[in-house]
Amino acid sequence: MKTVLVTGGAGFVGSQTVLHLQDHGYRVVVIDDLSTGHRQFGLHADRFYEGCVEDTALLDQVLVDESVDGVIHCAARALVEESTREPVAYFQANVGNFGVLLDALVRHGTRPVVFSSSATVYGAPDEVPIEENTRTLPINPYGESKLAAERLLAACGTSYGLPGLSLRYFNAAGADAACRVGEWRRHETHAIPNLIAAGLDGNTFTVCGADWPTPDGSCIRDFIHTEDLARAHRLGLEYLWAGGESTALNLGSGNGISVLELAQLVSKVLQAEIHLEIAPRRPGDAAVLTAQTIRAREVLGFVAQRSSIQQIIEDAVAWALALRNRHQD
Ligand SMILES: NC(=O)c1ccc[n+]([C@@H]2O[C@H](COP(=O)([O-])OP(=O)(O)OC[C@H]3O[C@@H](n4cnc5c(N)ncnc54)[C@H](O)[C@@H]3O)[C@@H](O)[C@H]2O)c1
Repeated sequence: MKTVLVTGGAGFVGSQTVLHLQDHGYRVVVIDDLSTGHRQFGLHADRFYEGCVEDTALLDQVLVDESVDGVIHCAARALVEESTREPVAYFQANVGNFGVLLDALVRHGTRPVVFSSSATVYGAPDEVPIEENTRTLPINPYGESKLAAERLLAACGTSYGLPGLSLRYFNAAGADAACRVGEWRRHETHAIPNLIAAGLDGNTFTVCGADWPTPDGSCIRDFIHTEDLARAHRLGLEYLWAGGESTALNLGSGNGISVLELAQLVSKVLQAEIHLEIAPRRPGDAAVLTAQTIRAREVLGFVAQRSSIQQIIEDAVAWALALRNRHQD
């Protein structure tokens, strides 16, 4: 049985990836400092280490004791707006800490690394769908840090022969079909959970910009279900174990939905009205961000299966209700 180390395995994407790997016969070890993750999620792992990826002694211990065959690196700071206020902290967390992990792998023997990158590496390109060879031009420190981390991983491939795969997710969404894990943040900034909360609590949801050059004036985004993301990570590791070349791939559904359409759909699934207010555009936003998905299919055989927007919203609603029930217990 192969062992996979998932950093950030107590977070939204990481925890779903842990469950998926276990469902496919892997043993999973998690390192997570619980800065934004949850102990309940981390405890799904076969072995949970509460700690930081920049803790060299912890990494030495894990790499010696756990005979890790591959690494999925999800641990990061991942809020765009926060990154504009704390750029140094973001580069430290997303590039510096990744360097500490990669250095430990080099010292203990290289093995494949799948890295959680992001569509923010592209910034706001003129043309969609976005292909992997679209120029990378991030427009915020978060995107800059993800691009720098991709480059660091690629450099470790060149210098040390470390196999690496960067997965550029578009908008991660949905929840585990069995409601074991899902989106759960202390300070939520993501559209779908905030629309659900607005519908359940009667709060107002703010649409940032209704004057974009799109059919209804709101931004268009590409959502991918975390169960699909989790499968892509497993396929990515299996690809690298089979000797696949290091590269970077988009992970999206390939379909765009506008924020106003999203609000309507969430309202329909919840059967609750959602009050909307229109605010000015946020600096650094792009009108339309959708993925070209062909390369992930060619390289990994990956096709999104659970990423229809209806399915994503139904799963996210089921999770949000389950989470509320748990907290009332
Ligand atoms: N959610 C999205 O839409 C999205 C899109 C593109 C890329 N990503 C990337 O996917 C990854 C996971 O994102 P998420 O949405 O699950 O976020 P999340 O905040 O839920 O998960 C991140 C996890 O990493 C842990 N962590 C953070 N710093 C750590 C450190 N120094 N040491 C150990 N653990 C640490 C946190 O406690 C948390 O459990 C991130 O790298 C993010 O940049 C997310």
